[in-house]
Amino acid sequence: MNHFDYRDGALHCEGVALAAIAAAVGTPVYVYSTATLERHVQVMREAFQPTPVLIAFAVKANANIAVLATLAKQGAGADTVSAGEIQRALKAGVPPERIIFSGVGKTDDELEFALAQGIHQINVESAQELERLGEIAGRRGARAALAIRVNPAIGAGGHQKISTGGADAKFGVSAADALALYARAHAHPHLDPKGLAVHIGSQIRDLAPLQSAFKTLRTLTEKLRAQGLNVARLDLGGGLGVPYFNEPDPPSPAAYAAMAKETLGGLDVDLAIEPGRLIAANAGVLVTRVIRIQARDDRRFLVLDAGMSDLIRPAMYDAFHDLRPVRLSQAAPEPFDLVGPICETGDTFARGRMLAPLQPGDLCAFMTAGAYGAVMASTYNARPLVPEVLVRGARFDIVRRRVSVDEQIALEALPDFI
Ligand code: LLP
Repeated sequence: MNHFDYRDGALHCEGVALAAIAAAVGTPVYVYSTATLERHVQVMREAFQPTPVLIAFAVKANANIAVLATLAKQGAGADTVSAGEIQRALKAGVPPERIIFSGVGKTDDELEFALAQGIHQINVESAQELERLGEIAGRRGARAALAIRVNPAIGAGGHQKISTGGADAKFGVSAADALALYARAHAHPHLDPKGLAVHIGSQIRDLAPLQSAFKTLRTLTEKLRAQGLNVARLDLGGGLGVPYFNEPDPPSPAAYAAMAKETLGGLDVDLAIEPGRLIAANAGVLVTRVIRIQARDDRRFLVLDAGMSDLIRPAMYDAFHDLRPVRLSQAAPEPFDLVGPICETGDTFARGRMLAPLQPGDLCAFMTAGAYGAVMASTYNARPLVPEVLVRGARFDIVRRRVSVDEQIALEALPDFI
């Protein structure tokens, strides 16, 4: 459920007309709904009840500090994959004890930074990383709280580029190695193995692969405990899909949580999850304006002022994003190719999309764009970085202003040897 609805024929985010935001801020612009963000955290928490769960929002999905602060107020933590994301989470008020640090390429500096902040847990993805962490923690006289990220050799997800759990993916260690690494960490004076972690992919629309991955965690937990090793935490990762309106709905948070509780029942562990898309995707839209209609032969291209530089998912993963007119029309739908202004054919959002005809200057909105939208935006073609707006009830505010071309140029320099 989200809070983007038509009122008197005009698309609103909560109590604010998207047209009012476009008039005040210009287009393209991302617009986020506070009520939707809050609701998604609550839905996930309720789904797990009475089992407590750390909902560590995957910051990579939406790193805006106003979004993170909104989620932090609901009790969410943060799953991070860089020192930058940890900094953002802290700045937004996420307490360190709710921050998880994942990723295959953590540098020494980043491990050091994470330890200095006293975060909840570092998810270790390799033997080499474990070694570095042990050494850095030793130098600091600390004990690093960690989980071993297991690669269960089960890939899943909406696109091959976003599947992370397959045996050929770069993420995590094999189940056998996880046992050995865990024991090694346990024997190390500066390492504190708390548990195991898994994350097999994103936009997963079937519970079966998730359940298999959780079973792997269960088996490993039992084996480690049989060796007398303490396993107090399981981190189930993210990955649950959301409806993009072109496919049957994915499983509900309730079904997902019921499966997790059933699969891991009786283990007596603290659970964490790392949802990104589920929390943020349907909480955001990208508002864009029609620049013109380019007609050639029997094709009509709806040229929008948003491009792949603002929303790259269709170009990168052939992703579907519904496009809705900001002002409802009764006109009969016709096929349009939805494109941006960027100078490559990849800058195509959709082919042959059926839409009530729009005119130059009309506003429309790409739906389900709150996750992996603004965070993946760039300044390609020297376009100003897209701004972001947060709505709460009848109020809205700019939470990232448009970065002007002059500001972008100011980061560069003309050396005197030219
Ligand atoms: N935890 C870890 C370790 C991850 O790598 C990810 C996502 C998540 C959690 C959150 O997954 P989610 O709940 O959002 O599915 N840019 C792509 C998605 C990449 C996801 C990468 N990892 C897209 O636009 O579809």
